[in-house]
Amino acid sequence: PIPTLSEKNNELHLENVSLNHLVKEYGTPLYVYSKAALQQAWDAWQHPNADRNIHICYAVKANSNLAILQFFAQRGAYFDTVSKGEIARVIKAGASADRIVFSGVGKTVEEITYALEQGIHCFNVESLPELDRIHDIATHLGKRAPISLRINPDVDAQTHPYISTGLKENKFGIDHNLAESAYMHAASLSGLKIAGIDYHIGSQLTNLSPYLDAQNRLFNLVKKLAARGIELEHIDLGGGLGVRYKDETPPAASELIAQSLQGLRDVGFKHTLMFEPGRSLVANAGLLLTNVEYLKPTEAKNFAIVDAGMNDLIRPALYQSWMQVVNTTVRNEPAINYDIVGPVCESSDWFAHDRELAIAAGDTLAILSAGAYSMTMASNYNTRQRPAEVLVDNQETHLIRQRDTLNSLWGNEQLL
Ligand code: LLP
Repeated sequence: PIPTLSEKNNELHLENVSLNHLVKEYGTPLYVYSKAALQQAWDAWQHPNADRNIHICYAVKANSNLAILQFFAQRGAYFDTVSKGEIARVIKAGASADRIVFSGVGKTVEEITYALEQGIHCFNVESLPELDRIHDIATHLGKRAPISLRINPDVDAQTHPYISTGLKENKFGIDHNLAESAYMHAASLSGLKIAGIDYHIGSQLTNLSPYLDAQNRLFNLVKKLAARGIELEHIDLGGGLGVRYKDETPPAASELIAQSLQGLRDVGFKHTLMFEPGRSLVANAGLLLTNVEYLKPTEAKNFAIVDAGMNDLIRPALYQSWMQVVNTTVRNEPAINYDIVGPVCESSDWFAHDRELAIAAGDTLAILSAGAYSMTMASNYNTRQRPAEVLVDNQETHLIRQRDTLNSLWGNEQLL
């Protein structure tokens, strides 16, 4: 799944750096990203010669390391954010605030105030009370807040229920049937400037059809709004494009963009088009390196106990995600079945079940496709120090986040 991973002299390399060499230099657990793979993923979302502007808003929650944000900022990305912290990170990484959209169902007064003061591009509004709150705060600050309403199109994204967001029983967005009246209400509020419309139906979508269903519903709505005199500048079709972890065959970004553009042309729309991809920009640019501490054969299973835990990478524990695991040293011994598990005191602390691998204690395993929703979901559970992060660029390496220090674990705490 990682395009820049290859085998040389019985060792895995990311671009031109040996993973075993990285382990010697930086230790484990270690997140490693490939700059060339990031570039490939970014390029896949470019659609030159389109008949309009297309803004690619990188969904920061997928991987919010400052260097990763800087990489996308330097290439002209917009950013989809969901908290004050994410907005601040994007600005810290050098992007301009007017390239930020702010999503999420629970925006606080503090967050809305901060976003308005910074001058963000658009609020993706998820409820009527939020609309009123943004109007109040903007009026108080003497500003007009650019808004888009997130519509819940009530389509089944056909993905894991925890990452499916476009059904009416989900907490996200404004009911499709209430959208017209919500826009009429927004138009009556002087603190708001109607900028667009958006949806996001779920994540790791491997099929275009839910996208296109949702898109058609949205276009019908946009027509009705225009008939009422509400004109929008942009249409934001959200994120969600899946990636290959194992054998999935998600559509290419270019295909999604082409179909969306065609849909817009068919109905005669001239709107700016926006997307909010997260996973598809970073997942297959990253991996997690972890050391095999012990091999533990038991009556029922062979366990390989590694030094990364569910606190470092929670996707298997939380979503039963399948992530590929490989040995960074190619061994010729016969492979046997292993469960790859971490040191955390929970039975959900596993990375893989029944994988055929040839492993010796002390080897390094790489958990692939760990560029998205991996480090950003890490915690300090069990008072573990979160991993360091390294970016590989050809044969160079850059430490882009140091491992948590012991002091950083309790730096905000106080004895009585
Ligand atoms: N826009 C909105 C409003 C979102 O809620 C999300 C993701 C995205 C864009 C980006 O979606 P993407 O292109 O990455 O699919 N932790 C889960 C994924 C949670 C996704 C949440 N929302 C996982 O590890 O699979």
